[in-house]
Amino acid sequence: MEYATLSNGVKMPMLGFGVYQIPPEDCERCVLDAIKVGNRLIDTAQYYNNEAAVGNAIQKSGILREDFFIVTKVWFTNDGYKKTKASIDESLAKLKTSYVDLLLIHKPVGDYYGSYRAMEDAYREGKARAIGVSSFNPKLFKKLYDFAEIKPMVNQVETHVFFQQKELHELMNRLGVKHMSWAPFAEGENGFFRNPLLTSIGKKYGKSVAQVALRFMLQSDIILIPKSTHIERMEQNFDVFDFELSDEEMKSIEMLDRDKSIFGAEYNPIMGKALYFLSELRKKFV
Ligand SMILES: NC(=O)c1ccc[n+]([C@@H]2O[C@H](COP(=O)([O-])OP(=O)(O)OC[C@H]3O[C@@H](n4cnc5c(N)ncnc54)[C@H](OP(=O)(O)O)[C@@H]3O)[C@@H](O)[C@H]2O)c1
Repeated sequence: MEYATLSNGVKMPMLGFGVYQIPPEDCERCVLDAIKVGNRLIDTAQYYNNEAAVGNAIQKSGILREDFFIVTKVWFTNDGYKKTKASIDESLAKLKTSYVDLLLIHKPVGDYYGSYRAMEDAYREGKARAIGVSSFNPKLFKKLYDFAEIKPMVNQVETHVFFQQKELHELMNRLGVKHMSWAPFAEGENGFFRNPLLTSIGKKYGKSVAQVALRFMLQSDIILIPKSTHIERMEQNFDVFDFELSDEEMKSIEMLDRDKSIFGAEYNPIMGKALYFLSELRKKFV
């Protein structure tokens, strides 16, 4: 495994497992499979409704808590100092741990400045080994960074070959903040797994499109948390440390960048909030 060193010295695996859209009843089995494959970084969130399943899997794995790197995120309905503070304790109880390794603000929606203050306190109290944000574009990120007493150590943002986030990456590099990708496969959108360039590069190394895409981002210094419910795919997604893309191949993949979000509305806080409320409502009725 390769590790990133966060600005406070904490070491974080460069590759792990994400559990978005894995229903709670399947999540324990999926996380146990992911652990068996070798994953130690697990990325969950209050919004995913599966923190308890992640906690169960970690406990059942028989592996020491300190060997894991657990990430969770504060959802915007828990915005503001007071609600965020209480929600952190709830997350810890569900995860059956006294601390998380990384705590993030999930979306720049609502009173996230108040939430950040609560996260700074959680950090000071040892409830989080590192703190940061998610889905913050360069402008929002820089404002939050300037406001922070404890600087965010990570920004987890939509990043894949079609949306490489070069401007944000450069800004964070300058500030010593780590870039973590969400949706490294663009959730399969835009014909991702059939992409001709990634397919042809993969053939050369005997690797899949998924593996080439992950390798591209690893070599770009981006932390990865691909999601899968299939153990064969988890194995594939973890098997990316035995080949290296050439400079020419890296440059050709850089050309796939459309510099545009596929899940766009999340960058507009008002639209993002409206969409998420609608999606939560939909879940109740569909
Ligand atoms: N901070 C945020 O706002 C945010 C937003 C989205 C996601 N995330 C985090 O990022 C993680 C990853 O993103 P994501 O889950 O949205 O999408 P993703 O990892 O880009 O894509 C997951 C999709 O790819 C498929 N897949 C996985 N490995 C594959 C392989 N080797 N070959 C072919 N298909 C494969 C999965 O199918 P199967 O499951 O059927 O195998 C699933 O349909 C999430 O789980 C979550 O932890 C964070």
